[in-house]
Amino acid sequence: MEEAPSDATGSDVSELRLRWHVYRCRRKSDTKTRFLRELARVVARAPRPTQGKTAPPLLEIGTSAGGSALLMLRVLDDVYRGGRPPFVLTVDPYGARPYEGAPFVYDARQYRAMKRALARYANHVHYMMDSGLFLQELEHLYLWADGARQPLDKFTLVYLDGSHDPDTVWREIETLLPRLVPGGTMVVDDTDWFEGAVRRRLDAAAPGLGVQVRHNGKQSLIAKSQIGLDSVA
Ligand SMILES: C[S@@+](CC[C@H](N)C(=O)[O-])C[C@H]1O[C@@H](n2cnc3c(N)ncnc32)[C@H](O)[C@@H]1O
Repeated sequence: MEEAPSDATGSDVSELRLRWHVYRCRRKSDTKTRFLRELARVVARAPRPTQGKTAPPLLEIGTSAGGSALLMLRVLDDVYRGGRPPFVLTVDPYGARPYEGAPFVYDARQYRAMKRALARYANHVHYMMDSGLFLQELEHLYLWADGARQPLDKFTLVYLDGSHDPDTVWREIETLLPRLVPGGTMVVDDTDWFEGAVRRRLDAAAPGLGVQVRHNGKQSLIAKSQIGLDSVA
């Protein structure tokens, strides 16, 4: 088993360890190191529950070969050392679904690679569907944990990296932002696509949403304040 550099302080994960996790995942990911690092930081700083409780799941839409999901799972293992990390839910239809804006093909090759990369994580759950179906069914979905049914009505963190079609991404934001826990972050990848349509819409809507938006290159980060609003316009 590989050893991570051992300079972590307390329960917080140091920048050096986060870089190590990114190093271990980056070849399996379509996302550049700089953006994976930011994702790792957001996962490490995500709100944690009071003792004895399990945090609501983390959600990734658009999984490809599983590199970014692996990063999330590794960082969570580090944050919750010895404790119980939350579930990481991933959503991706594979099946060579036509990709809006680019000729990329995501099919059984990526699906197989994802299953191999994430096999050892019992807290990983994959939904083989596009985000349209997932969001439509969201209120009917639940997980069983510790003998109890947990509705999928709250997420600790949401990472959007599926279709970059502006209407699809906006529907994801609109549906999932109200379910993000106070203090949680939504990371949206590639908001510079389609002439920055999603980014412009986000910047315009942010003041009314009770969120702070910042852009890190092609990535946009939406931070929900401790007292978030319940709906987005
Ligand atoms: C850029 S890749 C994701 C890369 C991955 N997050 C990483 O960093 O390694 C985009 C993925 O989104 C998936 N995808 C495309 N349209 C989707 C949709 N409507 N809902 C969910 N996933 C979708 C594709 O199948 C593909 O695997």
